[in-house]
Amino acid sequence: MAAPENYTRVLQESQDVFHRFPLQLVHGIPLMEPIAWQWGPIEHFQARPDDLLISTYPKAGTTWMQEIVDLILVRGDVEKASRAPTHVRIPFLEICSPPPVPSGVQQLANVPSPRVIKTHLPFQLVPKSFWENRCKVIYVARNAKDNVVSYYFFDQMNKTQPEPGPWELYLQKFMDGKLAWGSWYDHVCRYWAERANHCILYVFYEDMKEDPAREIRRVMDFLEVELPPQVLEKIVRQTSFRVMKENPMANYSSLPRAIFDQTISPFMRKGQVGDWKSHFTVAQSEAFDTHYQRRMEGTGLYFRTQI
Ligand code: A3P
Repeated sequence: MAAPENYTRVLQESQDVFHRFPLQLVHGIPLMEPIAWQWGPIEHFQARPDDLLISTYPKAGTTWMQEIVDLILVRGDVEKASRAPTHVRIPFLEICSPPPVPSGVQQLANVPSPRVIKTHLPFQLVPKSFWENRCKVIYVARNAKDNVVSYYFFDQMNKTQPEPGPWELYLQKFMDGKLAWGSWYDHVCRYWAERANHCILYVFYEDMKEDPAREIRRVMDFLEVELPPQVLEKIVRQTSFRVMKENPMANYSSLPRAIFDQTISPFMRKGQVGDWKSHFTVAQSEAFDTHYQRRMEGTGLYFRTQI
């Protein structure tokens, strides 16, 4: 992998390759065009048995979990966790940009084991080698209403995804599974069901907000890492919304404005459960709930929309 400063420099120098890429279907899932064009190397990615995959639907708390996992693995050493921005420390498996920006797969080829890898791919598109190698997977899920609001603000500032357009239509696209990475409903339900067959730790954003120490301990157990109580407390502090928002290695401020324009909406926006109430009208909420009941019935998967 290029040294972190090189990678950041390539991004800075290649700003003109970025624009709002249209979506293209890959095995029925809408993904940004550059991902679709370079799908072969993603599909055939060779996972190693000690790879750890952090998987989420976009905006479910990926970056938060990435920071938690990294701090656990460096045993709470904040200086080590500040060695590079999130996307360099934990590359994004399927991300592709036009050349000369290295793809996620290219970045990962040079990362020494054990690697931690981020993905938003739905279960069925995750490269088979992860399952063949019985890799551990941490899946973070967030309630649909907060998830779609977060995604709406993100798509305004993320200059590489399609224009979000008006909220009302955006919400309908979310319900129809037409946003990048497809249906939230299929995404969260399939990983939930696959817990029985694979080494998947399923974590809820709402549980992390309610009791971060408890959820971080679950992650530590899953990773078979023991840490003294004071280190756990330090990780809780260091991964709080307030601290991460100010942390240049966790708040994506190193990305150029041509990718994330944080003057439109900050990446670390609100970090709350229940913010959806400020954005859904009563009628939208009722229609959403009716559709939601139909989609989620019988799955055994329950989310909290407030805590
Ligand atoms: P909001 O837009 O609701 O604020 P992802 O990393 O998957 O893109 O998710 C981003 C969402 O997680 C944003 O939600 C962001 O603010 C929130 N987030 C990031 N770090 C957080 C933290 N430490 N605590 C709570 N929420 C956090």
